[in-house]
Amino acid sequence: MKSTIAKSTDSAANAHATSSGHFPHLRLRRLRGSAEIRSMLQETHLRKEQLIYPLFITEAAGIKKPISSMPGIHQQSIDAALFEIEEVAGLGLTSVILFGIPDEKDPEARGAWSENGVVQTATRQIKERFPNIVVVADTCLCEYMSHGHCGVVADGQVLNDPSLAVLAKTAVSQAQAGADLIAPSDMMDGRVAAFRAALDAHGYEHVPIMAYSAKFASSMYGPFREAAESAPSFGDRTAYQMNPANAREAMREIELDIQEGADIVMIKPALPYLDLIREARTLFKLPIAAYNVSGEYAMVKAASQKGWLDERRVVTEILTSIKRAGADLIITYHAKDMAGWLS
Ligand code: PBG
Ligand code: ZN
Repeated sequence: MKSTIAKSTDSAANAHATSSGHFPHLRLRRLRGSAEIRSMLQETHLRKEQLIYPLFITEAAGIKKPISSMPGIHQQSIDAALFEIEEVAGLGLTSVILFGIPDEKDPEARGAWSENGVVQTATRQIKERFPNIVVVADTCLCEYMSHGHCGVVADGQVLNDPSLAVLAKTAVSQAQAGADLIAPSDMMDGRVAAFRAALDAHGYEHVPIMAYSAKFASSMYGPFREAAESAPSFGDRTAYQMNPANAREAMREIELDIQEGADIVMIKPALPYLDLIREARTLFKLPIAAYNVSGEYAMVKAASQKGWLDERRVVTEILTSIKRAGADLIITYHAKDMAGWLS
């Protein structure tokens, strides 16, 4: 009796499968038949509010210098950056991330944390002119250190704990200048906790931290280092940035940053690490950012300029794939182009 019931249930399931679960009854192409139907059923969408546009800010005035490996991107002084932000806002973008290029670099990274540092001054002016633009401050020391490393160096080593105080001081000075979001990109251990404590102690408990949590020692930062003039003068960053082969360790980095108080976690670069964006999306509830880095941009630009790829279609596909993998926010040099195409 028992087995009869089981058998009839099985055959009912089979009958159902043959009537609707398989070709020729089932045809997925039915939902691809027209542009309208395809559009109705699109699962992933890009939104301008989720794209963050990077700016490289120099001192002095009247400067707008193209970066050869990043067509369309410039080093520029604050006055020129304000013009570009007007354009950025006109395109419907709502946020920028700032990188500073100081005139003087030194072993204490003074330019990173001084009240009149280039990022602090730019932040004040941007917030004054464009209060609705979300200003993200990248917090690192490499652009300001004479040796180009992301932390304090002694005897050829990048020291972890002594770097924390300098980084935290930088974060506080950025918040003081009006930055809406603080984004530590140095990869020192314990920096999120140090930032949170320092921000809270100075009355910036409302300022969120977007941590570059899983930041890899990637081959794709080359054009950025030209743009930010931040290449290390000796060695490389493999003793603090992550090994590109390590997925479990990436989840540990993210988990620790969450425990230390990160509000948003980031994975960087984006395209070669889509698997980790997806895994983080599954494991964690926080918003996830992905950094579509300079090398990813340069590859697309170079191939497009040669006529080998259709730039608009490639960029749309790449940014959509980053969102589909699970990113909420995307930092991308394509933001202005994409915003134009989304209009
Ligand atoms: C520096 C920093 C880097 C990037 C963002 N912040 C470069 C590096 O680690 O050398 C890379 C961004 C890009 O390539 O677009 N901490
Ligand atoms: Zn750095």
